[in-house]
Amino acid sequence: MRKRTPIIAGNWKMHLTSAEAIQLVDGIHYGLPFPGEVEVIVATPFLSLPEVARHLRDSYIGIAAQNLHFDDQGAFTGECSGKQIKDAGADYVIVGHSERRQYFAETDEIINKKIKAAYRNNLIPILCVGETLEERETGEFSAIIGRQLAVGLLDLTGPDAAKLIIAYEPVWAIGTGRTALAEQVEDVHRLIRVSLAFKYGGMVADAVRILYGGSVKPANSRELLTLPNVDGALVGGASLNAPDFIEIIKSID
Ligand code: PGA
Repeated sequence: MRKRTPIIAGNWKMHLTSAEAIQLVDGIHYGLPFPGEVEVIVATPFLSLPEVARHLRDSYIGIAAQNLHFDDQGAFTGECSGKQIKDAGADYVIVGHSERRQYFAETDEIINKKIKAAYRNNLIPILCVGETLEERETGEFSAIIGRQLAVGLLDLTGPDAAKLIIAYEPVWAIGTGRTALAEQVEDVHRLIRVSLAFKYGGMVADAVRILYGGSVKPANSRELLTLPNVDGALVGGASLNAPDFIEIIKSID
């Protein structure tokens, strides 16, 4: 019996038109009518989000956005706020994905403001943390992840922290086909839980779901998802294909 309800979340990134998105979620919903004890989430592009959310109103599949602005409104051309995302039908939002950090210069300080904006708008953040290949090889990764958590979660209250979802995504494993070894994954997940316990106490640390992300696919999901501190997966490439995504959901025992 798991301590926490696991989550399988698909991160579609900048893929799929609205029609393709509807086809994909239908494939998931009808291909797996009863997912069991697991929360299933899809993180859609902004444009297809309202339509997918409307379409999934009576489905078990939850909706996330992939990013948000840290203000609720204002002169920020091209951005979307937490308020708008909530209004469009999402309940979750990915914050601080490594592609945002790398290509859009998101710092831990910006990410912290976004985490606050998510809570302000009743969105549950899925905070992504993870090291680059260089940081893994030099052994700096635990300090890097420690900083991402410390700054990213600055000023967060215990009750808010308990609702948080964290995704550990080693940058070198994203979209590369290279998955972290089971012991590397469990080590980092344990480290994250210990640092949450240190900051917020054991009850909060026990409540937070910590997902693994980085080349998760049906062939490796079972091994990763049975690790004691792994509470699910954030899936990129394999979430664009209904049968693969369903296989990953089914690999939760
Ligand atoms: P991937 O992406 O599964 O394609 O490696 C994971 C992610 O970036 O969230």
